[in-house]
Amino acid sequence: MRTIEIFDTTLRDGEQSPGVNLSSSEKLEIALQLERLGVNRIEAGFAAASPGDLQSIQEIARRVKNSTIVSLSRSVQNDIDKAWEALRGAQSACLHVFIATSPIHRKYKLNMTKEQVIEHAVAAVKYGKKHFDMVEFSCEDGSRTEIPYLIEVVQAVVDAGARIVNIPDTVGYTTPAEYGNIFRELTNNVHGIENVKLSCHCHNDLGMAVANTLAAVEAGATQVEGTINGIGERAGNAAIEEVALALDTRSDFYQAKTILKLEEIARTSKLVSRLTGMFVPGNKAVVGANAFAHESGIHQDGVLKEATTYEIIRPERVGFKSNKLVLGKLSGRHAFKDKLTELGYQLEQEELNEAFTRFKDLCDKKKDVSDEDIVALVDSKITNIPEMFELENVQLAYGNNSVPTASVRVRTAGGEVREEAACGNGSVDSIYKAIDRVTDEEVILDDYKIVSVTHGKDALGEVYVRLTQGEYTVQGRGVSTDVLEASARAYLRAINKLIVRRGDAVEVTV
Ligand code: KIV
Ligand code: ZN
Repeated sequence: MRTIEIFDTTLRDGEQSPGVNLSSSEKLEIALQLERLGVNRIEAGFAAASPGDLQSIQEIARRVKNSTIVSLSRSVQNDIDKAWEALRGAQSACLHVFIATSPIHRKYKLNMTKEQVIEHAVAAVKYGKKHFDMVEFSCEDGSRTEIPYLIEVVQAVVDAGARIVNIPDTVGYTTPAEYGNIFRELTNNVHGIENVKLSCHCHNDLGMAVANTLAAVEAGATQVEGTINGIGERAGNAAIEEVALALDTRSDFYQAKTILKLEEIARTSKLVSRLTGMFVPGNKAVVGANAFAHESGIHQDGVLKEATTYEIIRPERVGFKSNKLVLGKLSGRHAFKDKLTELGYQLEQEELNEAFTRFKDLCDKKKDVSDEDIVALVDSKITNIPEMFELENVQLAYGNNSVPTASVRVRTAGGEVREEAACGNGSVDSIYKAIDRVTDEEVILDDYKIVSVTHGKDALGEVYVRLTQGEYTVQGRGVSTDVLEASARAYLRAINKLIVRRGDAVEVTV
């Protein structure tokens, strides 16, 4: 069995998904979960992109101990210096430098000759090696690069000291047969290739990212790059959970394994979905809500007789629990704490007390409290965003023939209680107008999504909003058994974040 290493780029390529904008504490929360999942490398960002990116990579590098932390960098000295500044405190660090190699990019983007591209690539790897023991080099748009030239580039960077060579299918253009062939050509023609890690990185524009990744693995790649839930630029990247499960389920065929703790997959997927606001489609492989649901009578009959008739992955394998409804009104603090530990939370006493109070409130509204309810309840609170405005009350007058009117009362961080009312086109609109007034903020609502966390009429509703104010874009989530309250909480939380982003308040990292 070969071991395939996992390079997670959820926080870099994944964060490039349109509309996704994570705060430092959200990035750290995801990084810590990726570490728990057991990924070998975490690409935490692009240090030269902004001081905020640099800082959040620094924080992740300081906190994560068991995965190598990576920063992306163009093949220029300033980017490499910034990456070093971000990563020097890491237990294990890796510089990821890239330059485009394809004819299209050379001509239209870089305006460089083939020789100039190689010069830049080699200079970047050599400069990176001054600080970093581990340097990964990527040939951007590698899959559309002439193979003989790709071999030349790879030979040059291997000779310059790159320890990992990555061939991205940047625009998701290649086919499995073509992509696999590139890896075979490199393996057969680059001297010293056996001493470096060959890596694949696939985008999903034609829906082939995972198939291409697996073709590269078959052809000798020993590192797979991808994102949780397949998020990323345009149609996204190869979904790590799908690649990992393909290798696990078909180990007879691939003869390869990863060191991932597969039972952490469901939790990681839910966390990434919740924090990015990119909800997972029900039919998504491995982590979709329907991935293990059997609808047709024939299938149900088969599964009841013998699960393997229609089930190739046990839900427990990836951490989905069989919706046991264990906690309720009569559950005490001890049982609640045990449940939190089982779900992977370690809360400080004060956080625990607060979570327990909210759990009891929920029990008053909902008879059975499932694991998903508890995760939603706790995660919605652990954001480390100072509450500049805390929701005290939201009230609504609604009738199908009258104008909805909302009144909202908040308490400011300084203890002042403010109340405002507003009319709107609908219930949510009137609540949001009242919040704009009470907080004295003007924002644009870019996105509003609502999902039900569990099943049933008393299910928790989760609302996600994305707001823009000038150059700032922020997200907020809110959870409640009442969708209007969840809507108000999500919006207010986003406004609290906005205030932090603008620099009017300080974000606390966990
Ligand atoms: O898709 C791509 O080419 C990339 C590189 C920057 C590695 O993400
Ligand atoms: Zn990419």
